[in-house]
Amino acid sequence: MDTMEIMPEVTADKTNTDFLPINGTDYLELFVGNALQTAHYFQNAFGFQPLAMAGLETGLTDRESYVVVQDKIRLVLTSPLHGGTSIGAHLDRHGDGVQAIALWVDDATSAYQETMKRGAQSFLEPVTTQDDAGTVVKSGIRTYGDTVHLFIERKNYSGVFLPGFVAWKPLHVPTVTGLKYIDHIVGNVGWNEMNKWVKFYENVMGFTTLVSFDDNDISTDYTALMSKVMSNGNGRIKFPINEPAKGKRKSQVEEYLDFYGGPGVQHIAVATDHIVETVRTLRDRGVEFLQVPASYYEDLSARVGEIDEEMANLRELGILVDRDDEGYLLQIFTKPIMPRPTLFFEIIQRKGARSFGKGNFKALFEAIEREQMLRGTL
Ligand code: FE2
Repeated sequence: MDTMEIMPEVTADKTNTDFLPINGTDYLELFVGNALQTAHYFQNAFGFQPLAMAGLETGLTDRESYVVVQDKIRLVLTSPLHGGTSIGAHLDRHGDGVQAIALWVDDATSAYQETMKRGAQSFLEPVTTQDDAGTVVKSGIRTYGDTVHLFIERKNYSGVFLPGFVAWKPLHVPTVTGLKYIDHIVGNVGWNEMNKWVKFYENVMGFTTLVSFDDNDISTDYTALMSKVMSNGNGRIKFPINEPAKGKRKSQVEEYLDFYGGPGVQHIAVATDHIVETVRTLRDRGVEFLQVPASYYEDLSARVGEIDEEMANLRELGILVDRDDEGYLLQIFTKPIMPRPTLFFEIIQRKGARSFGKGNFKALFEAIEREQMLRGTL
């Protein structure tokens, strides 16, 4: 395996203090056609737990939201309650997809002011909401496409989710599947736009480039793309940004852009400590994964060396392995979970490695191309 270009990580002794301290991902909000049934899917297939809801019952007139949670991962699923809403327009343009990546901060007003000062486009001026459980300050800026970053300050709040939401307690609660936290969130941007968005994350949000790949790293006979991984100061937030590159046929990023109607979130990588058990459970519960050919496993031991997992289990489930200087990682990708071939999930287990599975790109893209071929979009 060739070496990867890893830029130095920003550490605490960096002279500039972090102007945008982020504690972690607060939640992801998806605009979907049917929030209740999508919540049901995430509960039954992925093992998310019901947490909160807001809608007509809580005084909303335009939308209904269900919040599901698994360990540190929170998803908000929102649908419009009548025609002519901005949510409906978003759905018409993009289909079901991620509208907001909400970041957990200690000071949402400062996060807004500091990013606006550095050239952000406003989405939401700081607004304080409250209920019996305390106050939350929320603000937001725009990022690629119609996607936004919200800043959520909840240090003075002890409620179930956010003011305006009530606990959601359906009778049926499926068991968890071992998903723990969001490892990274990947955005697809348009032709020649990657560096624009890299500059946005650097200049406006104070992120640094952790890793970069070009089309020499990531290409097959047909597909090519370029990617840079942006990370915040403490490394808790990692946003790889993909741009299509010219290949013989249509790049998977280009296919995404066509179907999503522009840039947007391509995949959400969620971490587990027991990938074999997690993937087996997800598969039993109906989650469909991309499969690599059996030949992938023939030279795997030679490529990644000694690993803790049984090769037979990995082969059976189609779990991929990659090694870097610091350790190894195991990963697998779902098929797109929406009608349009856009958003999908990655399940990842890190065993020391902090990279993103570059050694798997070729096998993976060939698997994606087989799917594109079936869709007739290659
Ligand atoms: Fe990924």
